[in-house]
Amino acid sequence: MKVLVTGGCGYIGSHTCVMLLEAGYDVIIVDNLCNSKRDVVDKIKEITGKDVIFYKGDVCDYALINKIFSHHDIVAVLHFAGLKAVGESVLKPLLYYRNNIDSTLNLLEVMTKYNCKNIVFSSSATVYGAPKTLPIKESAPLSTTNPYGSTKLYIEGILRDVYEADKNWNIAILRYFNPIGAHKSGLIGENPNGIPNNLMPYIIKVATKELEVLNIFGDDYDTPDGTGVRDYIHIIDLAKGHIKALDKVLSGSGIVCYNLGTGHGYSVLELVKTFEKVNNVKVNYRIAPRREGDIAACYADPTYAFQELGWKAELGIEDMCRDAYNYVMKCKRNTSD
Ligand code: NAD
Ligand code: WQD
Repeated sequence: MKVLVTGGCGYIGSHTCVMLLEAGYDVIIVDNLCNSKRDVVDKIKEITGKDVIFYKGDVCDYALINKIFSHHDIVAVLHFAGLKAVGESVLKPLLYYRNNIDSTLNLLEVMTKYNCKNIVFSSSATVYGAPKTLPIKESAPLSTTNPYGSTKLYIEGILRDVYEADKNWNIAILRYFNPIGAHKSGLIGENPNGIPNNLMPYIIKVATKELEVLNIFGDDYDTPDGTGVRDYIHIIDLAKGHIKALDKVLSGSGIVCYNLGTGHGYSVLELVKTFEKVNNVKVNYRIAPRREGDIAACYADPTYAFQELGWKAELGIEDMCRDAYNYVMKCKRNTSD
């Protein structure tokens, strides 16, 4: 069974491709490589020993998506492609609306044309805005504070409208919490260029001395140690959630929506300390002012995904810290060879 993975060279998409191949699916990737590298395709093949079809191109390119569907009998799409940097989205809102929404509209139009009406969509816990109650259930009120989050919320709305108009669609909206970690092999993972936006890549760059010090954005939140609390989830658990969601979609789910998180919140300081302990490295940090737009705490109630999909996260914060560092260290060794 062939599945199309948009953004399959990216961080979450690549790990999900590995799981899809291991589960027996045939994988076609389309990615314009705006935030990833071509060699990820080779790494996916190396890990799984299986072949992957790769198209370099933009999901906003209707002709390309049409061509892919005309050449392959695709049963479902996992739609990861999108821009994801919150700060950049505030500076370049039109880029984010154009890329994230146009790509989705194109995809849905071509899927309709070829009568492929099964899709798994990468949404985000960012659609919960500043949550009023914790842990967060799927039924919590939705709001956003930046254009990136708005693209996710709008796309969720587009998917609901598409389903209302045609109940033959099967749609899984997955709201990810904070994915970190990497594949055990150290062949794929997350290693952004330049100064990272997110905590784990920043911690790693400080541990490897590429950056001098981690700024901890605020220690006066209403949390046990005053620093921000998040639901970090191992990328492998997250990828496994996609296989379960895809199975559900292919069994005729209608439209469904699941939180993919662990249900546990860890503070910035807890993550830093755990990282130092399991990797036996020092992470210099200092307390800095709060980052605009940040919330004190955010963690999932993952009960619904367990009830409906039989999925729950299994790997712990120590695995996340170890695997994330292992990947970056391996990248470094390979580039210095
Ligand atoms: P990523 O940037 O590593 O992967 C996205 C991939 O999509 C990249 O390979 C990029 O080159 C590609 N891409 C972007 N726009 C494209 C386009 N128009 N056409 C073709 N390819 C395109 O990001 P990720 O962390 O793997 O995130 C995947 C999805 O999950 C995104 O939609 C993101 O918004 C969502 N998400 C991510 C997180 C997170 O913390 N990483 C959390 C919640 C939701
Ligand atoms: C985590 C914690 C920071 C960096 C973002 C997006 C969200 C989703 C995941 C896509 C917070 C603190 C961070 C640093 C710090 N992405 N921090 N120093 O903000 O929870 O979520 O990524 O959908 O939409 O908003 O993740 O990793 O940036 O921050 O102290 O240098 O680490 O304040 O408490 P966040 P993050």
